[in-house]
Amino acid sequence: MSIAGKAMKITTNTLQEMKNAGEKITMLTAYDFSMARILDAAGIDAILVGDSASNVMAGNDTTVPITLDQMIYHAQCVVKGVNRALIVCDMPFGSYQGDSRRALNSAIRIMKESGSHAVKLEGGAEVVESIERILTAGIPVMGHLGLTPQSIYKFGTYSVRAREEEEATKLIEDAKLLEAAGCFAIVLEKIPADLATKVTAAVNIPTIGIGAGSDVDGQVLVIHDLIGLTHEFNPRFLRRYLNLYDEMTKAVEEYITDVRSQDFPNDEERYS
Ligand code: KIV
Repeated sequence: MSIAGKAMKITTNTLQEMKNAGEKITMLTAYDFSMARILDAAGIDAILVGDSASNVMAGNDTTVPITLDQMIYHAQCVVKGVNRALIVCDMPFGSYQGDSRRALNSAIRIMKESGSHAVKLEGGAEVVESIERILTAGIPVMGHLGLTPQSIYKFGTYSVRAREEEEATKLIEDAKLLEAAGCFAIVLEKIPADLATKVTAAVNIPTIGIGAGSDVDGQVLVIHDLIGLTHEFNPRFLRRYLNLYDEMTKAVEEYITDVRSQDFPNDEERYS
């Protein structure tokens, strides 16, 4: 049986064992109880309570506005729906950068108030001090390199990162720094596949890709994109497994028609 198949609970150690055995790691985002319950029951290895909640749940243009309290709320909802998967909660913008004490306090709040199993934060050398401090409290940390959406106002676009040699070299160095600091895994977002292959070979901890090709140790997607609840977002890396936006629109239109025509509720759908 596979390592993931044998695990009653997925831990950070399970992910490392999966990498060592060449078994791919599956990860998806979730932000609420109902969705988390489906992903967990389906057998997902890890759930990311992503700060993409800022976009897909709150309707913001970026991940910048979401607060620590809001991330904790989403993580609390997810935790209630999960028995087996590893739950990683994103640290939101402003909760860890440039101040390792604040970073530690934010991570402790996430762990204590939500019941998440680990935190994730974006960046390389510039956040290593925060990572090291969080780790002193025994909190597992996942890194995130490449396209780091919390820095959107620095990048100016959501296009592929590290195509140039200088940025690619820094990214590999950052990945090694994150590993040396003690991160248990690293998300690689929207970078050339060849670079992701190099990063994955350069570190011993698992790499989880999103728009980083197939030579990484696992994949992560935003659940709303996978099931097609979002429909205006169509990056090359995205494979949609459902088209729920159209399905739901159709269902709601049918409901409106049925109520207006008094077809709903019918005799079987009422109490006597
Ligand atoms: O917030 C998020 O959904 C993420 C993934 C894109 C990795 O960080």
